Amino acid sequence: MNLYTTSIDIIRAGQARSGAYVASPTFSQYGYSWLRDGTWIALGMDCAGQHASAHAFYQWVGRTLEAQRPRLETLLGKLARGETPDDLDYLPTRFTLDGAPGEDFWWDFQLDGYGTWLWGLVDHVGRTGDDDLWAALRPAVELTARYLGALWQVPNYDCWEEHRDRIHLSTLAAIYGGLDAVCQRAPDLVPPDLPQRIRDFALGQGVAAGGHLVKYLGTETVDASLLWTAVPYRLVKVDDPRFEHTLAQIERDLHRPGGGVYRYAADTYYGGGEWILLTAWLAWVYAERGEPDRARPLLDWIAAQAGPDGALPEQVPDHRLFPDRYAEWEAKWGTIARPLLWSHAMWLIVTSRLGEGPCQS
Ligand code: BGC
Repeated sequence: MNLYTTSIDIIRAGQARSGAYVASPTFSQYGYSWLRDGTWIALGMDCAGQHASAHAFYQWVGRTLEAQRPRLETLLGKLARGETPDDLDYLPTRFTLDGAPGEDFWWDFQLDGYGTWLWGLVDHVGRTGDDDLWAALRPAVELTARYLGALWQVPNYDCWEEHRDRIHLSTLAAIYGGLDAVCQRAPDLVPPDLPQRIRDFALGQGVAAGGHLVKYLGTETVDASLLWTAVPYRLVKVDDPRFEHTLAQIERDLHRPGGGVYRYAADTYYGGGEWILLTAWLAWVYAERGEPDRARPLLDWIAAQAGPDGALPEQVPDHRLFPDRYAEWEAKWGTIARPLLWSHAMWLIVTSRLGEGPCQS
């Protein structure tokens, strides 16, 4: 079984005719498309040379966000008048595969995915030279940039859909990364000083006394999503001392020696197992730091987690942080998501980056 080709096949099977990628085709809660997951899945497909698949995803994003324009105008109007928006005024986190907001309750005010897709689109257009796609999506980019420009300092749920009352560093990094990427390509779409203001705020407020970046403002703890601050968003460089301190803390607190990477030390979701996508992210960081030998054992561990059909899960529960918190989730939502398309995408991204696929990231 070749995990590279299996990953492409699993992602292809999980892409709807609309272009949307399902987060997981089998897990009870993940029958939707997230901008966050979808962007990494599209990048994985780009890395594997499957550009048409990524193209279809971005076209779907464009149509989906265009349909949200009235909601955005209502929201911006309320903000301009000094009114407090209702929860339903914020743009959704996940959409049905047809591009409608989901009808079930979800932890919906999350900004990181909106920065993520901007970063991903600019990356995709840069790789493929698809200027027509960029031109077609400019209105959706402009809409997203206005949304982020209005709200980036407002607390919102993080990439794990938790802590709505906090400002999260990985979210700021995604917003910075997305807006900075747009600025490079179309400076007229973003206020020229905005990316730098976001960066100054994040690095001014988000560094602990010990020199590392924090999970959210007001804590000293770390979260493995802080890896994203350097790779790929470049809020900090991979050799910036602030990132090196962060990496050291993640290695010490969140990487199980010989195993995978936890999200954060207090994680109780399915007992808090090791996440495939974060283990791949650590490998990606090592690759970017010119340390491929540190990346390979992580990839070996990931490959060993694939089922007989090659499917990778979201997380692996063998060494849970809170073993007694597993059963409640299984009773509520069923067994851990498998396959998770984002896990497969990360495999494609990292193996390509290490020179084992058709292109470099
Ligand atoms: C994760 C999110 C992810 C979603 C769909 C959630 O459990 O916390 O990061 O976007 O699942 O995969």
